[in-house]
Amino acid sequence: MGKVIAIDGPAGAGKGTLAKELAKKLGYVNIDTGATYRCVALEVLRKGISIDDTSKIIDISSNIKIDLLEDGTVLLNGEDVTKDIRSKDVTNIVSPISSIVKVRENMVNIQRNIALDKDVVMEGRDITTVVFPNAQYKFYLDASIDERARRRFEENKEKGINMTYEEVYNNIKDRDYNDMHKEVGALTRTDEQVYIDCTNMTVEEEIEIILKEINK
Ligand code: DC
Repeated sequence: MGKVIAIDGPAGAGKGTLAKELAKKLGYVNIDTGATYRCVALEVLRKGISIDDTSKIIDISSNIKIDLLEDGTVLLNGEDVTKDIRSKDVTNIVSPISSIVKVRENMVNIQRNIALDKDVVMEGRDITTVVFPNAQYKFYLDASIDERARRRFEENKEKGINMTYEEVYNNIKDRDYNDMHKEVGALTRTDEQVYIDCTNMTVEEEIEIILKEINK
């Protein structure tokens, strides 16, 4: 196993931007684990499967091929879905789908395989606890819900994703609850993580804290 910097935290905290910048700085590979759950959600939508049809969703997650390329491109069964997995419809159903235990098992296997023998920055909800509990460096990135909704709303605007601030806020609030109350892989704070409240921080300041920890 290579070196692992594991970052967990709630939706909209800025884990994606942080992980990308940090990986670039260190020459590590950045792995966005949320993208794997989003691929399952996209396939569920495309196949017209009901969100309650757990066994069909598990089937999809068992047979799906996901590639996360080093430039951030996400391939689902060979097709570039980088933009499609950020849609409002995917965002609305991804959290309940990621609560299905067998789906999580399948995605955790995919995530571990992608990281195999590489130095990685991996971000998600259960990286420090389930995917790589023995990671050398563990962080929990947090921010107030208002700030997270504001950041995600601005990001969506830039990406052309059409959601009102209220929609973004309510989606984050629902996902917070769901992500923190999963049977397996729930977002949790532990004593082993270094807690960073980035409500009033720039990405550069976050990186400085992380590098200080790593160089301790
Ligand atoms: O980070 P994100 O918003 O792209 O993640 C999408 C959903 O996937 C999120 O609501 C919870 C789930 N997820 C998870 O359960 N475990 C992870 N390691 C990453 C994401």
